[in-house]
Amino acid sequence: MTIGILTSGGDCPGLNAVIRGAVIKGDRIHHESFVGIKDGWRGLVEDDIEPLPRYDVRGLSRLGGTILGTSRTNPFDHGGAARVREVMAGHEMTGLIAIGGEGTLTAARRLSDEGIPVVGVPKTIDNDLSATDYTFGFDTAVSIATESIDRLRTTAESHHRCMVVEVMGRHVGWIALHAGVASGAHAILIPEVDVSLAQICEWVEMARDRGRAPVVVVAEGFVPDGAEHVHAPRGLDAFGRPRLGGIGERLAPAIEEQTGIETRSATLGHLQRGGVPSAYDRVLATRFGTAAVDAVVDKQWGSMVSLIGTDIESVDLHSATTVLKTVPRERWDEAAILFG
Ligand code: F6P
Repeated sequence: MTIGILTSGGDCPGLNAVIRGAVIKGDRIHHESFVGIKDGWRGLVEDDIEPLPRYDVRGLSRLGGTILGTSRTNPFDHGGAARVREVMAGHEMTGLIAIGGEGTLTAARRLSDEGIPVVGVPKTIDNDLSATDYTFGFDTAVSIATESIDRLRTTAESHHRCMVVEVMGRHVGWIALHAGVASGAHAILIPEVDVSLAQICEWVEMARDRGRAPVVVVAEGFVPDGAEHVHAPRGLDAFGRPRLGGIGERLAPAIEEQTGIETRSATLGHLQRGGVPSAYDRVLATRFGTAAVDAVVDKQWGSMVSLIGTDIESVDLHSATTVLKTVPRERWDEAAILFG
């Protein structure tokens, strides 16, 4: 039997470790062969597929990115289940492993509902998927963000400045919360919790009054309460277009204006997704890969591998894709005791 593997959505450290785990276990234990589907669902609907022999995955667990490439193509915009079935049949694929985040797994769930034999593997640096305690990529992103904030703090201290650091997290603030606590931030701003500019400035001034360089960690999806006080940065970008700027870039001048403290911002962006995965992420991703191939062999179609406590379990793709896992208010309150 031939198993297809694809990685879809934003890339994430640990994707290659999943691929390696699945292919080695599938080859060694189940005597399966594999094909690699290029650039997520795009490669499936466009039939861009190549054999993925075991020797191609050697040494992969320490490699960032994905050897298969990725895209944000939605298969339902390109023929849906009928097209997927046709291409899978052409390659004698009896099962599919789809590694991705919310969008990818929602597509996998819909395909499964229409009879496509698919198993999901949860992936995202944002850690916002329900039905799994952690996703791989998150630990690496938090480590990179923490190290970056530590570095930004020393330059802020030298200049007696406030530093606003924007981290990823469109809908949820897990990276901001963990990196902010790990680096001892004076304020952590996340999409789940309303905080006013006045409150942010109060924390900044408290830190300054204790002789510290205030550090504000903000998730990209945060919107301040009373956002009208936080203006878009003025001017044009290098291409002559009006600069839009992320929330970090917009908060910094507002804090400077309100507090009189010189303030700079840094947006960590895709640095958080690049480079080698942490040891934790390599282990989790490898376990997900080996469990996913077992699920395919057992024909557990429509399931997703998941971390519950310290065990790898199998859950329904439906339960994994209905609600995003947001930061509970009490987790933020726990951190907020230390702000200012
Ligand atoms: O979902 C992962 C993520 O890294 C988000 O945190 C971020 O908002 C988004 O992807 C960025 O996507 P892109 O790489 O397409 O700009």
